[in-house]
Amino acid sequence: MVVHSEKMKSLGQLVAGVAHELNNPINFIYGNLDHLRNYMNDLIGVIDSLAQVADKVPAEVMESIEKSKEEADYQFILEDLPPLIKSCKDGAERCKQIVLDLKNFSRLDEALLKEIDIHEGLESTLNILYNKFKNKVNVHKEFGELPMLSCYAGQLNQVFMNILDNAIQAVPEHGDVYVRTSFENNNIKVIIEDNGAGIDQESLSRIFDPFFTTKPVGEGTGLGLSISYRIIKTHNGTIDVESEKGKGTKFTIKIPVDWHKEADIAGV
Ligand SMILES: Nc1ncnc2c1ncn2[C@@H]1O[C@H](COP(=O)(O)OP(=O)(O)OP(=O)(O)O)[C@@H](O)[C@H]1O
Ligand SMILES: [Mg+2]
Repeated sequence: MVVHSEKMKSLGQLVAGVAHELNNPINFIYGNLDHLRNYMNDLIGVIDSLAQVADKVPAEVMESIEKSKEEADYQFILEDLPPLIKSCKDGAERCKQIVLDLKNFSRLDEALLKEIDIHEGLESTLNILYNKFKNKVNVHKEFGELPMLSCYAGQLNQVFMNILDNAIQAVPEHGDVYVRTSFENNNIKVIIEDNGAGIDQESLSRIFDPFFTTKPVGEGTGLGLSISYRIIKTHNGTIDVESEKGKGTKFTIKIPVDWHKEADIAGV
């Protein structure tokens, strides 16, 4: 398992590195677009002011100006520029959000053990997965009141990613995934439930085994749940599964909010 956790760590570092590198260029693209729009309005103002002195300009000069305007499709440019800049801005805004989600997800820019809001981790993970599920799965978030949790945030997000990814893959064409959170008996509880394919009884006892997969070669390594299990154990928590073939699957994660006070952190 050490090898797998090293793999995850370097994947997390890669994600954090890419997010960090993209952050600056995206910010200046985003920030410069406002200047670009203002400069554009100023330039259009200058060109318009030429029209006001048209009667003082020799006719052949005006003709040549009009000709260049026609050649450049000036009227079309005037109409197209504002929506064009707006769509660049929307695109840059989406990139900013993706970078933020990746940073949140990997959490490598922060101390290893960190107080976090579990809901933020779930939201970022869902945002990252959005394109994968948007056409087939309705995600229902039923979030309760949760205290902050000291945890290995990047690792916990990896658990949410693995379980949500499995849930999305288990839904064949259209279905639902429920993400519920609550705080009970000093435990943070996260339930992820789908109404997808379900798991037969024989497989159910093996899903946490490393390399157990029912997915075609090249699609699943069978490591997602075994890694998740180890991460939840690291947090002194439990991860349980209930499933019925054809009906769906429910994962329940519980983590004691003060787990780190009892655990031997140095040994983790
Ligand atoms: N929500 C679910 N619905 C149905 N089957 C599931 C669900 N979650 C897990 N499984 C079953 O458990 C197996 C093991 O899951 P695990 O996440 O460990 O590996 P994987 O998804 O097959 O591959 P990987 O996660 O490494 O890409 C899956 O192949 C699948 O058969
Ligand atoms: Mg998986």
